Amino acid sequence: MKITVVGAGHVGATTAQRLVQHQLGEEVVLIDILEGIPQGKALDMYESSPVLGSDTKLIGTNDYKDTAGSHITVITAGQPRTPGMSRDDLLMANNDIVGGVTEQVMAHSPDTILIVVSNPLDVMCSVAHAKSGLPPNKVIGMAGILDSTRFRSFIALELNVSVRDVQALVLGGHGDSMVPLVRYTTVAGIPISDLIDAKRIEEIVERTRKGGIEIVNYLKTGSAYYAPAAGVAEMVESILKNQRRLLPCSVLLNGEFGVEGIFMGVPCILGENGLEKIIELKITDDEKAALQKSAEHVKGVLAKLNL
Ligand code: LAC
Repeated sequence: MKITVVGAGHVGATTAQRLVQHQLGEEVVLIDILEGIPQGKALDMYESSPVLGSDTKLIGTNDYKDTAGSHITVITAGQPRTPGMSRDDLLMANNDIVGGVTEQVMAHSPDTILIVVSNPLDVMCSVAHAKSGLPPNKVIGMAGILDSTRFRSFIALELNVSVRDVQALVLGGHGDSMVPLVRYTTVAGIPISDLIDAKRIEEIVERTRKGGIEIVNYLKTGSAYYAPAAGVAEMVESILKNQRRLLPCSVLLNGEFGVEGIFMGVPCILGENGLEKIIELKITDDEKAALQKSAEHVKGVLAKLNL
């Protein structure tokens, strides 16, 4: 099993590191247009393998020929946000980058499964889908896991409990209109509404919605990468090992949750074919309205492109 990671910036390099550390795949290829960066980072990471006890091969390259036959390709290429920017401000620059990258990836790995990470996430999934010609089960965006893991960590902090026991689902587009499903958020099965008062839950939800910009405001020169890379690795593992994990991912919707024709975060089963199934759980009218609002936002951004 070969995995390519496109983009040797913080998100791409950290993703490659996690894949190697957890021996996900026999070979990981880190590719970037910048000469020397993927080679240097990959070599440095490979040199950590004896200490980690990982036999996953790792190369860095600028040549897409080296990515040939990739089973999974993770697209992290693109510009990150800096303070004052919304994810949507990256639209035009990252449309060109993600579109171009997808064409080069497909020329060498026509059967690959694409995991898209670049922002604005849901719209970049549409770009990769359109450029790749892949069936919708093979184009999957990573955002819901990131938004959910932020929500989960804030709840664990609030209650001073193990992160392992906190489960949560954040759906919708990866933006300020994302939809944390409070009703489905539990600590070892106990609904958080039994443990935290409503006002405080709303504050935690708001912090989750602004989780990305909180990091950008600290870093100043870029956006988050540790939690995003962890999210990608979880998706890769579920696909490679056919684990059929239920994870919130951005996928093409065809009427599910009343949404059609756009990528947006919903609960998905990920297995050897990529997206195996969308789980259409029952949601309340309020939750449905929130998802609709989020979908309208994604549609508005998508409409600015001629796809
Ligand atoms: C975030 C950016 C990367 O949520 O979208 O951190």
